[in-house]
Amino acid sequence: MPQFKREDEEKNLAERMDAELAAAKPIESPDQMTPLYRESLINLLYMQADSELAGALGYVPCVSMSPLVEEYLASSMIVKDEFRHARVVYKLLENLGEDVEAHVRQYDYTYRIDHAVENIGSQRAADDKRVNIFYYPIESWVDFCMFNFCMDRGAGHQLEDSLEASYKPWARVLEGIFKEEKFHIAHGDNWVKRLAQDPQTHDAAQASLNKWFIRTMNIFGRPNSPKNKIYREIGLKKRDNHAVRLAFAQEVADRCKENGLKLPEWKPDWENLPWDAYVVG
Ligand SMILES: [Fe+2]
Ligand SMILES: [Fe+2]
Repeated sequence: MPQFKREDEEKNLAERMDAELAAAKPIESPDQMTPLYRESLINLLYMQADSELAGALGYVPCVSMSPLVEEYLASSMIVKDEFRHARVVYKLLENLGEDVEAHVRQYDYTYRIDHAVENIGSQRAADDKRVNIFYYPIESWVDFCMFNFCMDRGAGHQLEDSLEASYKPWARVLEGIFKEEKFHIAHGDNWVKRLAQDPQTHDAAQASLNKWFIRTMNIFGRPNSPKNKIYREIGLKKRDNHAVRLAFAQEVADRCKENGLKLPEWKPDWENLPWDAYVVG
């Protein structure tokens, strides 16, 4: 009997995968989705939207840290962009029938862990769906710029992976988000160059990189994750988690070389890393 059961399970799995492969074609509305497709999409959208919202709220205090008048404008534009990203991705969820207001009211998106905690690895600090890097507080202008340099860049690599997503309403929204993220990354690049090359601020830049690079490396998920495999099969992502991580790390390594910064050593903790790779911006 167990033999037959296993054969049945294999047959069901094969049928399911056929259905999901068929679902990799462009999808415009919920009635075109299989249950697995819908569940995977909703999961990715909540992770992105919660990260955008938590990110925006985490950036708010940075506006008043601006060292120059023009930077009040730049930093508040970044805050505005993140609230907009959250809004448009929650809107996609509403269009799928999700009760977004009820979801958001459950959590405190301003919550941050104690600033003395250097690294939580891949642990979660609360029950919302934000990527865990958004649980760390950003406490200085140097940290804000380094966050743009590391995390906005990491998010950009993940967004790039879904720019041609099979769910077309999401792909269209990501195009605009991706353009704004490039502005955030450029803001980080300009400031990190300036901070790293000034002897007065070089050490502070290196110390901040040591924190945020490691934290960003932890967001991408494990190699060969079964969930990532499904996302790729149904056309919501393109690359393996680790391939995205390596593309990010290479870019940071190149920038560090240009700016006289030392790339921190990241030791993978595969046992504790989450299976999911996240799409955030
Ligand atoms: Fe951003
Ligand atoms: Fe964003």
